Amino acid sequence: MSIKSRKKDHIKICLNENVKFQKSNGFEKYELKHNALVNFNFDDINLETEFLGLKLSFPIIISSITGGCDEAVKINKNLATVAQKIGIAMSCGSQKAMIKDGRLTHSYQIRDIAPDILYVGNIGLDYLKYRVNFDKIRLAVREIEADGIFVHLNLAQELAQKEGERDFVNSVENLSDFIKFIDLPVLVKEVGFGISGKIALKLERCGVKTIDIAGAGGISWTKVEKFRQEDNALAERFSEWGIPSAESLVECQSTVRLPLIASGGIYDGISACKAIALGADLVGIAGPLLIEANKSSEAVEKYLENYIIELKTAMMLVGVKNLKELKNNRQAIKLI
Ligand SMILES: Cc1cc2nc3c(=O)[nH]c(=O)nc-3n(C[C@H](O)[C@H](O)[C@H](O)COP(=O)(O)O)c2cc1C
Repeated sequence: MSIKSRKKDHIKICLNENVKFQKSNGFEKYELKHNALVNFNFDDINLETEFLGLKLSFPIIISSITGGCDEAVKINKNLATVAQKIGIAMSCGSQKAMIKDGRLTHSYQIRDIAPDILYVGNIGLDYLKYRVNFDKIRLAVREIEADGIFVHLNLAQELAQKEGERDFVNSVENLSDFIKFIDLPVLVKEVGFGISGKIALKLERCGVKTIDIAGAGGISWTKVEKFRQEDNALAERFSEWGIPSAESLVECQSTVRLPLIASGGIYDGISACKAIALGADLVGIAGPLLIEANKSSEAVEKYLENYIIELKTAMMLVGVKNLKELKNNRQAIKLI
């Protein structure tokens, strides 16, 4: 099967099937502490932040979703329109498709509508296996004018795919070499199975700039693969595999000093507030934004507007007026 039709399948399945984990992202185990009296105006709550040297109006990144098929053009356009309008960051789906077929490059290119945003490219760890690919990746990142690149770790998804990668020998060395080679920030993300503290430490030692923990609780990519294959018993068996997002975030936060992105089922502003209180710098969202972006940019904007109002409301209710006061604030959150 071509990468282009796999990309198409992924979008179709995520839009039409129940691919969400049954288990939760783990944030229900935490409660934000109610603060009955504050001394500031709701309108003065400031969500501005800086990430990889660029200013964001809100601590949100649109997680890697797509690129490499016709459907991706509209989706990326709608996402980029809103990212530019409200001032948030955005990533694209794996660029392997455009590297293999240059005619697909345009489906990742959003700079004409989003010249100012923090835009991050994407490639799988398995693609770093051969040094000849390093130059191809560098060119692909330049072609979409991205500010950095996510390397995604998706071992569980690969193993659930019949045609998936099995050989991960020297993966840490390959990542290290790639980071030395490419003159851009390298960020590492999971795709919804989470990153443990131990792995985060290895990544930090490799020189990655940021980790997106992308834990379990949102889209389950083993479940997505289950819908793609007829003989799907293995994918089905592993459909609930993964470290819940809250657990992964807390482990990574206590192990490394790198900026962290929390994602994986963080679909509302209260969960976002909890994630930042637990140490995240940004939150990432994929699943719900795919659904809205498939409709229109207005739908994306509406979803994010509600999300941001919820986040601000939660911040006021814990008594903090900016992200510096909220981040890693263990007075504001407790384990229940
Ligand atoms: C249609 C679709 C395609 C995706 N493709 C990629 C990809 O190419 N590379 C990647 O790193 N993550 C990819 N993801 C995973 C997301 O970036 C995210 O890590 C995952 O869906 C969990 O986050 P969520 O619960 O907010 O959806 C994709 C997600 C969706 C919905």
